Amino acid sequence: MTISVEHRNGHSELPLDTSAWHRAESQAAYDFRSDYVTCPNLSMLQSIINTSLGDDVMMEDSTTNDFQAFMADLCGHEDALLAMSGTMANQVALRSALTCAPYAILADRRSHIITLEAGGPSTLSGALIVGVEPSNGHHLTIKDVQRHAQLRDDIYDCPTRVISLENTLNGTVMPLQDVQEISRWARSQDPPIFMYLDGARLWEAVAAGCGTLKEYAACFDSFSLCFTKGLGAPNGSMIIGSKTFIKRCRWWRKAVGGGIRAAGVVAAPARVAVEQVFLGGRLQATQMMAKRIAQRWESLGGTLEHPTETNMIWLDLDAAEIDKEVFADMAQQVGIRTIRREIVGHEGRLVMHYQISDDAVSRLFGLFTAVLGERKCSNGVEKLQ
Ligand SMILES: Cc1ncc(COP(=O)(O)O)c(C=O)c1O
Repeated sequence: MTISVEHRNGHSELPLDTSAWHRAESQAAYDFRSDYVTCPNLSMLQSIINTSLGDDVMMEDSTTNDFQAFMADLCGHEDALLAMSGTMANQVALRSALTCAPYAILADRRSHIITLEAGGPSTLSGALIVGVEPSNGHHLTIKDVQRHAQLRDDIYDCPTRVISLENTLNGTVMPLQDVQEISRWARSQDPPIFMYLDGARLWEAVAAGCGTLKEYAACFDSFSLCFTKGLGAPNGSMIIGSKTFIKRCRWWRKAVGGGIRAAGVVAAPARVAVEQVFLGGRLQATQMMAKRIAQRWESLGGTLEHPTETNMIWLDLDAAEIDKEVFADMAQQVGIRTIRREIVGHEGRLVMHYQISDDAVSRLFGLFTAVLGERKCSNGVEKLQ
């Protein structure tokens, strides 16, 4: 196959080899490890061919500038900044929010910024991280935050300057009302405590009908959104906030090497992902499928580590006395991929995304029956088909 391209000196036929894309797409269809294993679709790849190629360090790329303005508007904030990854967005935003040490960040003990970002807040921001266990076992509430925030600034103290929430966390939704309560309280302090959200999967909370993007966004001074999680873009995240804050983020993004040149190749497919998958309403079907998978596991006698509120299913393999390596091996044998050692402690996590095929789900159901069905039978419970 070729594509015809017109240029200054006439026109050329360029070879177009889509075999790598077909391979990647069919692998994604059987991969339950995360919602970032998706393959960019053809509209996304097409948008890369058509994008502007201005320099974003000099803020001259029209596709990136337009996309940033579009995202700020969608969220009801003043400004936005493209970052290369969710980790970069979180770390740049936290570094920009922390201006005068000593300072502490209060966050859910399980949050990505504490457990999965290579210690970034301590190395890049020099912040004390106060990881709080949610007392209700699900999400942080105002009581948890008030109990653990440091409001004093005596000589021994390290004051809480940022409250960093995460939504969704482990696929569970932080209710809007709890976020609003924490936000009102943080903003009433003197000085106000900066409200930050790792919103890598905020899309999912919105798709689940738990609040609008603007309602959640109004509770935060800044937050990140990821275009690779569930939406299928090849790269990119966005930091949203005020004009003054985004100006600071632009400095820090540059300092960590995140200022990029032809940023349109990142911004263009990311915008397609937001428009087609999030605004196009594709996440709801994925969440319904996740609930069906969770129900199937439970109907066979399995239990879940966390409730399935969006697109994640957390099989409790320990409770079912299933060896994690054996589970991953059996999954591989039936032709699907689950977490093996990529993230320790996440081996029972299955993540639905819009490219998972019906055939992959049937194979998964077969795997459930293989690991649980026989056990139910041996316990004297009726054998399931
Ligand atoms: C909640 C959350 N925040 C941030 C990130 C980091 O994103 P990235 O992998 O693009 O750095 C992830 C990655 O999975 C995540 O799950």
